[in-house]
Amino acid sequence: MDGLQSALLPEVLDALSDPVIMVDGRKVVTFANSASLTAWPALTRGTPLSFTLRAPDLIEAIDDVLAAKVAASRGTMTERLPVERLFEFQAVGLTASANASPRTAPAAVLVFRDLTEARRLESMRVDFVANASHELRTPLASLLGFIETLQGPARNDPHAQSRFLDIMREQGRRMARLIDDLLSLSRVEMSEHRRPVDKVDFGVLIRQVVDTLRPVAEERRVAFHITIPDLPVDVNGDHDELMRVVENLVENGIKYGQSGQKVDVELTLHEPNSDHPCECHFRVRDYGPGIPSEHLPRLTERFYRVDASASRETGGTGLGLAIVKHIVNRHRGRLIIESELGSGSTFHVYLPLHGIK
Ligand SMILES: Nc1ncnc2c1ncn2[C@@H]1O[C@H](COP(=O)(O)OP(=O)(O)OP(=O)(O)O)[C@@H](O)[C@H]1O
Ligand SMILES: [Mg+2]
Repeated sequence: MDGLQSALLPEVLDALSDPVIMVDGRKVVTFANSASLTAWPALTRGTPLSFTLRAPDLIEAIDDVLAAKVAASRGTMTERLPVERLFEFQAVGLTASANASPRTAPAAVLVFRDLTEARRLESMRVDFVANASHELRTPLASLLGFIETLQGPARNDPHAQSRFLDIMREQGRRMARLIDDLLSLSRVEMSEHRRPVDKVDFGVLIRQVVDTLRPVAEERRVAFHITIPDLPVDVNGDHDELMRVVENLVENGIKYGQSGQKVDVELTLHEPNSDHPCECHFRVRDYGPGIPSEHLPRLTERFYRVDASASRETGGTGLGLAIVKHIVNRHRGRLIIESELGSGSTFHVYLPLHGIK
């Protein structure tokens, strides 16, 4: 490497998104790139590395390369504070240039990779497969149980047969609903980077969905209060996906807010401001028991339910809000959930109007 290129080396290392640290033969920091200072702000040149990074495996790996036992040593280290993070590291021994002091010349370079996000995604994937299997297995076990009963003890009991067949049909429908929801979730996820282009009158669509849900609301003695402007409120949208959004939010308001006996469904043109110009604001408010605040950040996770058995009883799969969130993201909109215990919940959806980039 010529002189100019080596002079640029610190800048090049600063451009990397992974932390790179160099230490001398006494494990004192001689260089720390920007990414390492972001990861560990306390890291200071001229102080021992162990003041900031105490992971025994890392120190041992550095000792090994400094003692020239190995040319390079890899490992992982976990940090608990301030938040749990997982890093993969590699320590590589350096040969000091002839004119450098043997004690203070860089003797090892440490390269880190933050695996926290990858680990989180991996554990979400594992949880998802476990949850989906569990959700499918429960109705399947019940179906198999009833089949055995129909073939055995209930073989000659027409009354029991018809009752069991009703339950079996319900369980079969539940499995079908779950699979439909899983498929729509994966479809939306796959198309999330492609913004919908059709012009959809959101006001008309909301009225349609509310009309189809009227019988469900009446059955549960819930009244709708609807406020929708008479003029068209056009958004860039996928008609079916926006129906799913409205359907799930209004249905949740009826199911979980039933005790409040009313659900407000409102659409307004949002006052333009510098952050969010030309949006419409759709909200569904119920007057039910509300949602404890600790659950709010997790509501849009797949299969997350505040009360799993209550949701299952009403036929819920726990995928509704996950689908809503992905659809809203695809439409470049925002979903905001507010709730107060004892007063009910409001689900807000902001969507950019048609023609807005
Ligand atoms: N308006 C609401 N009031 C109180 N809790 C709610 C409300 N909306 C959603 N929740 C809670 O959030 C959970 C997740 O809702 P989501 O719509 O994702 O699933 P679900 O309604 O159980 O199933 P699905 O939507 O597939 O029928 C619900 O199980 C419920 O515990
Ligand atoms: Mg739902």
